[in-house]
Amino acid sequence: MNEKVRELLNDQINKEMYSAYLYLDMANFYNDKGLDGFSNWYEVQAKEEMDHAMMIYHYLHDNNQKVTLEAVGKPDKVYEELIDPLNAAYAHEQYVTELIHTIYGEAQKVNDFRTVQFLDWYVKEQGEEEKNASDLITKMELFGTDPRGLYLLDQELAARTYTETTLATMSL
Ligand SMILES: [Fe+2]
Ligand SMILES: [Fe+2]
Repeated sequence: MNEKVRELLNDQINKEMYSAYLYLDMANFYNDKGLDGFSNWYEVQAKEEMDHAMMIYHYLHDNNQKVTLEAVGKPDKVYEELIDPLNAAYAHEQYVTELIHTIYGEAQKVNDFRTVQFLDWYVKEQGEEEKNASDLITKMELFGTDPRGLYLLDQELAARTYTETTLATMSL
């Protein structure tokens, strides 16, 4: 594997783990506010991000590549309004999309078609992540300022369940 591509993938493991930690911090914020549905949503989100990291971890090992684990950054955002984590999550997913696109571009440059195919899942996933994050902001703006609306939205988010994704189960 091209060293630059390997390095970018290796770094992405850390970025996905940081995403998990960032979302756990958002769950933490909503837990303190008594919004169990919102916190459930972000706990599930955190688990999915760990899956994203593990899939890259296994992809590198399956291709005989070295994996180096670095320190995961501290989530240091301070949230005040209930909508703050939602906005931060959307901005974060847009940032992650850029990261994935950068790796994709590098893999294409060196004709690493296997990595390109592997990353196709991530490209599609980022589209869904951005849509989910942006939809949540829209719903919050529409219903979140009304206590009854907020209650129902919290119930909706409480229904989100986690399904593990692995290299074996990932499909486009
Ligand atoms: Fe991710
Ligand atoms: Fe994500």
